[in-house]
Amino acid sequence: MIELCEVTKSHRHGPNEVRALRGISAEIPAGSFTFILGPSGSGKSSLLYLIGSLDDPSSGEIVVDGRPLSQLTTAQRDKYRRDDVGFVFQSFNLLSNLTAVENALVPFLPGGVGGDLRRRAVDLLTQVGLGNRLDHRPSELSGGEQQRVAIVRAVLKRPKLVLADEPTGELDSATGAEVFGHLRRLHEEQRTTVLVVTHDQRYITPGDRLLRLQDGMIVGGV
Ligand SMILES: Nc1ncnc2c1ncn2[C@@H]1O[C@H](COP(=O)(O)OP(=O)(O)OP(=O)(O)O)[C@@H](O)[C@H]1O
Ligand SMILES: [Mg+2]
Repeated sequence: MIELCEVTKSHRHGPNEVRALRGISAEIPAGSFTFILGPSGSGKSSLLYLIGSLDDPSSGEIVVDGRPLSQLTTAQRDKYRRDDVGFVFQSFNLLSNLTAVENALVPFLPGGVGGDLRRRAVDLLTQVGLGNRLDHRPSELSGGEQQRVAIVRAVLKRPKLVLADEPTGELDSATGAEVFGHLRRLHEEQRTTVLVVTHDQRYITPGDRLLRLQDGMIVGGV
């Protein structure tokens, strides 16, 4: 469960202040599939970064499973980002000199990768249709294939929470639908809480939760 309590975020820009979020309060239940919708500049990415603790709110609090993020020590915060949250971004952030399997395993490289983990990476990549692309580098993969590697990388650590910022933004609609299908199936199988920013409402299905933002405020949903 994620509780957003009067969350604000202002960015200093020279002499000016941009108020990206102006007091967001909402509850996002564990295990839900939630869409964050809203026009460009409405604060969607800002909100996702705050929930992933990649950035701090200017005021307000974000409570994840009863733990206020502002109270975490640096070590606890690193652990939260590393173990609890899987990030999928619009630009896939794959490393160009690593293969699909190696890219999926990147978050684990510091601690060492055992055979079990490697097998799970191969299984998940195979499940999303990349069984014959395991040794391909990003330049040898299509956009949709790269995005599937990014999704596998995000879910491999069995995160409690997947944060996806326009994961299909650079894909054609057929490939986008396919990527959403994989994200949804992995969500159902691992009961992960998924928060996804998209401009494309076609991917919404009954039962999903919606959080609509406009000018840094919630205008509907949840
Ligand atoms: N680092 C920053 N410095 C100054 N202003 C920023 C910064 N980051 C975001 N903003 C501003 O905050 C507002 C919200 O930005 P945000 O990236 O959250 O929007 P968004 O809803 O994700 O938009 P898009 O759909 O275009 O990705 C925008 O007006 C943006 O210009
Ligand atoms: Mg954005």
